[in-house]
Amino acid sequence: MASSPVSLSLKSAVKLSSGFMLPMLGFGVYQNTGPTCLESCLEALKAGYRHIDSAVVYRNEREVGQAVRQSGVNRDDISITTKITTRYAGYESTAKMVDESLKKFGFEYIDLYLIHDPYSGKTKRLETYRALLAAQKAGKIRSVGVSNYGVHHLEEIRNEGLPAPSVNQIELHPFCQQKPIAEYCAVNGIAIEAYSPLVRGVAKDQTVLQVGKSPFLVYIRWSLQRGFIPLPKTATPSRIVENASVFNFELSEEQMAALNALDKGREGAVTWNPVDAP
Ligand SMILES: NC(=O)c1ccc[n+]([C@@H]2O[C@H](COP(=O)([O-])OP(=O)(O)OC[C@H]3O[C@@H](n4cnc5c(N)ncnc54)[C@H](OP(=O)(O)O)[C@@H]3O)[C@@H](O)[C@H]2O)c1
Repeated sequence: MASSPVSLSLKSAVKLSSGFMLPMLGFGVYQNTGPTCLESCLEALKAGYRHIDSAVVYRNEREVGQAVRQSGVNRDDISITTKITTRYAGYESTAKMVDESLKKFGFEYIDLYLIHDPYSGKTKRLETYRALLAAQKAGKIRSVGVSNYGVHHLEEIRNEGLPAPSVNQIELHPFCQQKPIAEYCAVNGIAIEAYSPLVRGVAKDQTVLQVGKSPFLVYIRWSLQRGFIPLPKTATPSRIVENASVFNFELSEEQMAALNALDKGREGAVTWNPVDAP
């Protein structure tokens, strides 16, 4: 799935199993609401990002939609993601939430709709998934995906005879590489989005510091070269531009190998990372 690192650019995108393209550099908007969210999404679109990662619980679908309209960029050239949390799990409530999201964004379709987490349990997870597939069939959603799904959650979908999700969005950075999940996704054509790709703004490791670039750029670049789709978050205008400069350099094989060796498994996670939920 990964392109050759040399050819990566802000326009690089992966083709999802749904047939739709997803730009490889996403813009995360967790904990970014109101006018700040509107301003930073506008700044990101101006800087060339074409992929924004929102969620129902982030309470910013309205501002993201406004930014898309105000940006002057063609709607079809931008990919917008949102996610439904456990609170709204179930067939009917999911169908309702999809319509709510469409209304809040002010869109005719949503590019990618994810189940935010696996906490609702098997029955509700599958009901929610079926409702998203129905919304996709109705043209309200282009691609259906999941987030924080471990291998057993993904297998549950397969065992029901349902199509695999196009995307699994999980915490992923050099310290938490989620190897079994990443391997399963690679084999089954599920694109991996890397959330908290900047380790939430912490950059203490010597290996990362020695590359000679901002450690945050190194984290994003590592993710891209591994074929993941990183979703760095920043509400700081200068960092929006700085993070997009990740395409101006390349990590060598040796540097990639050194970063690959930093994995601490689940110990390396810095967020809720609920991939083990029953
Ligand atoms: N599906 C899920 O369960 C889930 C969970 C977590 C996150 N996500 C998604 O992934 C996105 C990113 O994850 P995240 O927000 O947890 O963390 P992150 O992207 O790893 O880190 C964000 C932090 O890094 C700082 N930062 C950004 N660019 C920087 C730079 N160039 N130099 C120094 N500091 C920098 C930001 O500060 P400022 O904003 O102050 O600049 C912020 O404090 C979220 O926004 C969300 O879209 C999904």
